[in-house]
Amino acid sequence: MAKDLIQKCREYRDSADARAQGFYPYFRRIDDTIGNHVICDGVSRIMIGSNNYLGLAQDERVIEAACDAARKYGAGCTGSRLLNGNIRLHEQLEEALADFLQRESVLLFSTGFFANQGALASLTDHEDAILCDRENHASIIDGCQFAPAKLVPFRHNSATSLRNRLKRQPDTAGKLVVLDGVFSMSGDIADLPPIIEAAKEFGALTYVDEAHALGVLGPLGRGTVHHFGLNDEVDLVMGTFSKSLGSMGGFIAGKREVIEYLRHKARCFIFTASLAPAVAGGVLKALELMQAEPERIDALWRNTRKMHEGFKQIGFKIGTTQTPIVPILIGSEARAFQFTQRLYEEGVFATPAIYPAVRYGEAIVRTSYMSSHTDEDLDQVLEIFARLARELGTFDDPAYSEPGRRKNVFDFSLSYTEGSDAVRNGAGDPARNGSEFHPAVSR
Ligand SMILES: Cc1ncc(COP(=O)(O)O)c(C=O)c1O
Repeated sequence: MAKDLIQKCREYRDSADARAQGFYPYFRRIDDTIGNHVICDGVSRIMIGSNNYLGLAQDERVIEAACDAARKYGAGCTGSRLLNGNIRLHEQLEEALADFLQRESVLLFSTGFFANQGALASLTDHEDAILCDRENHASIIDGCQFAPAKLVPFRHNSATSLRNRLKRQPDTAGKLVVLDGVFSMSGDIADLPPIIEAAKEFGALTYVDEAHALGVLGPLGRGTVHHFGLNDEVDLVMGTFSKSLGSMGGFIAGKREVIEYLRHKARCFIFTASLAPAVAGGVLKALELMQAEPERIDALWRNTRKMHEGFKQIGFKIGTTQTPIVPILIGSEARAFQFTQRLYEEGVFATPAIYPAVRYGEAIVRTSYMSSHTDEDLDQVLEIFARLARELGTFDDPAYSEPGRRKNVFDFSLSYTEGSDAVRNGAGDPARNGSEFHPAVSR
């Protein structure tokens, strides 16, 4: 008899268990968004779980540009750009991005996820290797798995580990080094100078995902590669519109010949409908405003520094973050869910992250800040976090008091039982192709 493919669905209990315990933190319905507050269940809550770093998703001028584009071109393009879905706004946006990023050429994708998948899957062959930071985003990992090349993970943010892995690849193999410019869970910035230097030493192509760096780092928010003055050294840059630019969609920027190749070879560019006119029109306006109003970035960094300091003063561990992404260590998964639920009840919208998005026993509440948060909002958030930490005994968790015991607090039914923390801890055969890289391990 054929295997029953939906048996696992029947047996799936995790979400129901979390709901039964009153802790389910996902799919919260937002009925209205007013600046940096959202209305859920009839109550206004401060949003600290959004990637809308510059507040542009709510800017009236961006919304108006999106409406104008929809009126002119319709609600959708109803086809691939290659065929019937290429409008003037797509080309204008590509030109504006190329100009902003000081790149020869840009190609838009319908999501940032597709941009990574499309580029990574298209650029390598069987004999090649993609060297991938272990904490890269899930879309990079998935993109690598679509690629024919061997996937070679290197230790997070370690040029030494990268160099060791590069040494083991055959001289003749093509090599591509890919990493996030800002890491989406830890909030740390890629240590690009030594990493790019190591990549160049071995003739590797370099690729940086600027999803969380655009609008945040570098002059006028041009991203990590500009922050380090390495724009000429990095071959390809990927970005999304779903964060600072307040919308959705993504892009790859690089040399004209590479973009021309991707335009004709990337399957998730060719075989999907192009960006909706409203999206392209809105992003074009957001990009213009981001450059015209740099005070937004200044405000974002003021808020970021305030929250780093504020959380540390209370006694929270915020890891190695250097950016508006501020992970608050809670420890046990049950406590992270409970903490998130209590935040919600107190008027704060945030989300937890548990294994395999983070290490065993190091569950976090992931918070992120926007230029539009006021001091009053942020003081209130800090006061509530401090009060809840006392109420829920956060600082008594083994993650705070006995970090060595962190595996013993892997205790919540939503936890995954498979996956490999050996991957995160650097064990395993790094030269093996991909299989040690559990796709769910990364974010
Ligand atoms: C580092 C990184 N890359 C890529 C993506 C995918 O971007 P998008 O949401 O536009 O598909 C994300 C989204 O969270 C991300 O954090």
